[in-house]
Amino acid sequence: MRPKIIAGNWKMNLSEKEAIELAKGIRDQIPGIAKGKQAVIFPSSIHLAAVSRILEGSGVQVGAQNIYPSGLTAMTGETSPDQLSELGISHALVGHSERRQFLAESSDFCNRKISFLVQNGFTAVYCVGETLSEREAGKTFEILGSQIKEGLKSIHSHHFSRIWVAYEPVWAIGTGKVATPKQAQEAHAFIRKEIAGLFQNGIEIANSTPILYGGSVKPDNIKELLSEPDIDGGLVGGASQKIGSYAGLF
Ligand code: 13P
Repeated sequence: MRPKIIAGNWKMNLSEKEAIELAKGIRDQIPGIAKGKQAVIFPSSIHLAAVSRILEGSGVQVGAQNIYPSGLTAMTGETSPDQLSELGISHALVGHSERRQFLAESSDFCNRKISFLVQNGFTAVYCVGETLSEREAGKTFEILGSQIKEGLKSIHSHHFSRIWVAYEPVWAIGTGKVATPKQAQEAHAFIRKEIAGLFQNGIEIANSTPILYGGSVKPDNIKELLSEPDIDGGLVGGASQKIGSYAGLF
């Protein structure tokens, strides 16, 4: 059975005071209502230390929005998983569309990050998704297929217990335009089939890989999305950045 996961991506938002207040709110309100659900939040890197201290022992996990795939080295401006694990950070996002779009991150570079993360005990949350023009041109599955094949190539099957995928159609991110449960389910089922195709006996691996949906998830649409068989959780931006709406997702 795959867990239901409610992940919050705070992106480049919140002051230090706001991040600390939100983390305390999550610590005090989420565990009681999380029943059977897993909670993970991804604060900006500057707030990781403070937030992970607050959430230590709460059952809510903390992840980084980005990493550089290396141990300690001369790499100005980047963060190594080695530094993050010291803070109790267990998860990292890879390939968010904002980084693909505005920082030219390729699936190939994502592959290096995922590889490094899983070999170092982290869970990598690999984001994939098509843009509006790609969807309109009928290229959704082609794009998803190549993002999955390139991003997850040469990852050993035994490391897949530390891989989650997040389907985030770019046209649904921050736009209020949520994919219909049917559109999301169709994409998730396709992604699962692509994961299965990476290995000779890949069905079992694919069936145990959590696939989250992201893009304008809110308390009032999450239930319907999570009722689809291949949607295992949400990767939530805006609605995860206020305690009321984040708690409302559980
Ligand atoms: P929104 O929930 O604000 O649309 O953001 C989704 C997202 O990008 C999560 O990673």
